[in-house]
Amino acid sequence: MHKDCEYILLSEQEIKDIVKDMAKKISEDYKDKNLILIGLLKGSVLFMSDLMRELSIDCAIDFICASSYGSGTESSGRVNIVKDVSQPLDGKDVLIVEDIIDSGNTLNFITKYFAAKNAASVKICTMLSKPSRRVVEIPVDYVGREVPDEFVIGYGLDYAEKYRNLPYIGVLKPSVYS
Ligand code: PRP
Repeated sequence: MHKDCEYILLSEQEIKDIVKDMAKKISEDYKDKNLILIGLLKGSVLFMSDLMRELSIDCAIDFICASSYGSGTESSGRVNIVKDVSQPLDGKDVLIVEDIIDSGNTLNFITKYFAAKNAASVKICTMLSKPSRRVVEIPVDYVGREVPDEFVIGYGLDYAEKYRNLPYIGVLKPSVYS
């Protein structure tokens, strides 16, 4: 375990099981649809690559980068699109792939943004959710695990751009950010 990690919240094996389970549900729900997975950079990269490999149906992929955090631990509430998707979404069934939902600000903005691009449907798939931190209520269609209000790192999740490459999800020692 990384020295800055207090404890492991989800092991590699637990993550694998969650992803497999989600992919099975998504493959059933989207079997007659025009699925495009859109990953929110950068946190979703590991989840996205694992999830798409487990799907048993065809899909397209794309990425968007919308940042609402600075280098600290709190959401600023402002959402900026840093990189947009690279294809039209008209008539497509968009499934947003996210690493974590915290305040809900990012996805509240992004779901409306994709709907305005004439997507046939827009749903949300997230590895983690922190319901206790929600500021905006948004419907979340697939959730890997609900987590307590602690600073989580690994499997794409960072603190000041570090720890994204850890293969497990852990809780950051408070001494690192306080
Ligand atoms: C994180 C995370 C979500 C968002 C969740 O992204 O990946 O996109 O914050 O917070 P919210 O629900 O309060 O909006 P971040 O902007 O830190 O970028 P990153 O994916 O590059 O880490």
